[in-house]
Amino acid sequence: MYRTHTCGELRRTDVGSKVTLAGWVQRVRRMGGMNFIDLRDRYGITQLRADDSTDPAVAAVVARLGREFVIRAEGIVEERESKNAKIPTGDIELKITALEVLNESVTPPFTIEDESDGGEDLRARYRYLDLRRNPLKNALMLRHKIAQEVRNYLSDNGFLEIETPYLIKSTPEGARDFVVPSRMNPGQFYALPQSPQQQKQLLMVAGFDRYFQIVRCFRDEDLRADRQPEFTQIDCEMSFVEQEDVLNVFEGMMARLFKSVHGLDIKRPIPRITWYEAMDNYGSDKPDIRFEMKLHEVTSLVQGCGFTVFDSAGYVGAITVPGAAVYTRKQLDELTEWVKRPQVGAKGLVYLRVQEDGSLKSSVDKFYTPEQLKAVADAAGASAGDLVLILCGARRKTQTQLGVLRIEMGNRLGLRHPLEFAPLWVVDFPLLEWDDETQRFYAMHHPFTAPKPEHMDWFSSNKKEDLERVCANAYDFVLNGTELGGGSIRIHDASMQRRMFEVLGISNEDAEAKFGFMINAFRYGAPPHGGIAFGFDRVCALFGGVETIRDYIAFPKNNTGRDVMLDAPAPIDDTQLDELCLRTVEKA
Ligand code: AMO
Repeated sequence: MYRTHTCGELRRTDVGSKVTLAGWVQRVRRMGGMNFIDLRDRYGITQLRADDSTDPAVAAVVARLGREFVIRAEGIVEERESKNAKIPTGDIELKITALEVLNESVTPPFTIEDESDGGEDLRARYRYLDLRRNPLKNALMLRHKIAQEVRNYLSDNGFLEIETPYLIKSTPEGARDFVVPSRMNPGQFYALPQSPQQQKQLLMVAGFDRYFQIVRCFRDEDLRADRQPEFTQIDCEMSFVEQEDVLNVFEGMMARLFKSVHGLDIKRPIPRITWYEAMDNYGSDKPDIRFEMKLHEVTSLVQGCGFTVFDSAGYVGAITVPGAAVYTRKQLDELTEWVKRPQVGAKGLVYLRVQEDGSLKSSVDKFYTPEQLKAVADAAGASAGDLVLILCGARRKTQTQLGVLRIEMGNRLGLRHPLEFAPLWVVDFPLLEWDDETQRFYAMHHPFTAPKPEHMDWFSSNKKEDLERVCANAYDFVLNGTELGGGSIRIHDASMQRRMFEVLGISNEDAEAKFGFMINAFRYGAPPHGGIAFGFDRVCALFGGVETIRDYIAFPKNNTGRDVMLDAPAPIDDTQLDELCLRTVEKA
């Protein structure tokens, strides 16, 4: 028998028992005639002791132990002389009576401790060693717990877990597809699903009523802290539902997760705001509502006073940063450079300090009277000691820039505590997004999303401004400034779907070629249906208190999409290429 207990299990009540443990050597401390070995497994660490009185065979094994050796130790549980209150097994130690090396280890390339000395790249190359460290191990354990809770909740609520294929045809989620060449169909390619959107809708046509799947999705898009090329969704679809039904079920799911993971009873109903409110007040369609610092439009207050930058802008907006009037000129210059970075994209920054005595100091003093500036400060809700930051330009673009600045200031002021949770639903998204470059509308969510029933007149109109006003029956679940999930009520009516393709400029032939199977299936009695998908990696990371999802994925890609451990992607050999009828060319 390799072990009778785990390394996290033994307590003072076990003193006197004869036990066997197995695990990895975390460290060996040799102090005079005493040897202490910290033995680690997934469950914890237990101290082993071998002293001078130990059997010489044991002493010989102890002498050759190194870090990360895999060993098996038999012994008697004893109470420790100097206890370690930091670990659950800290009251006891194991006096070794027999010791065996199960496998040796070469010296690991970095220390396997909570705070490792290994750089990110090195740890990624040896991910299996990095995963031995507590922070990553705990992250994967949290992931497991959340997956179990989700499965139980959805199963309790009548959802069936059904798998859908990975080798499919392109999906319309808006990112680039990863494609897989087909050997048996030379010159043809499968696409890996960006999500099982069409399959889950077809399952509704098939009558499955409530479906879910914790499923891998693939998107070839630019990577960020909360984006991986392959990621996991909690993907769900329901029949005979309206938006309210979907929101209720998934509020329940999130409430259950908050309770089971953090012991939190979140306030229900979870607040809802419309996309328009989100943009106007927070400059983001995924607002972090843990802190206020809302956007205030001041366009009418600042125009017509001779400051041409404001006069020519479609929108002038401000945020008030509490207590930041102490920002020095240097700090403000630095902030101005910060908003000019391409990631934010503002042309410049105007500031207005409300000094402790109530007087105002701004970077545009020469254009405005103190009364005019006071009106701006009042509109922005600023009082003594606050700093008003103002950006201008086209409305939505400027709001988005202010939204980015708001998050930055929230970070700087420490207003975004990772373990404080503020969930919300963002609803009533615009159905369509106009693209100036291609001069056409795109679906903001995807082309199967239904317009709001009350906006059908606008949807039938051919005027651009009418179509821009149509809201979708779509909703996002947002937590702490991250979009955790998104979904919609779908179009189930063939003529409405045809109209949607028409609005998107997709011809009948194109629609037929791309989505023919969907259109056909929908002729056989598609029930009213809708659904949602949550980014499972994001749920795990945010519940764990971070925004980076990589630590919550066992084997993630780096930010250029590489698996540095496998060294993938990699070329394939010519025989494989020949079989697939493929040839590679140098990129121009
Ligand atoms: P959507 O595209 O909004 O909707 O995706 C749903 C959720 O998946 C997560 N997500 C990602 N997570 C990590 N890395 C990525 N690259 C990534 N891309 C998306 C986000 C997002 O909210 N089929 C629809 C859902 C539906 O309509 O039912 C869909 O996929 O958390």
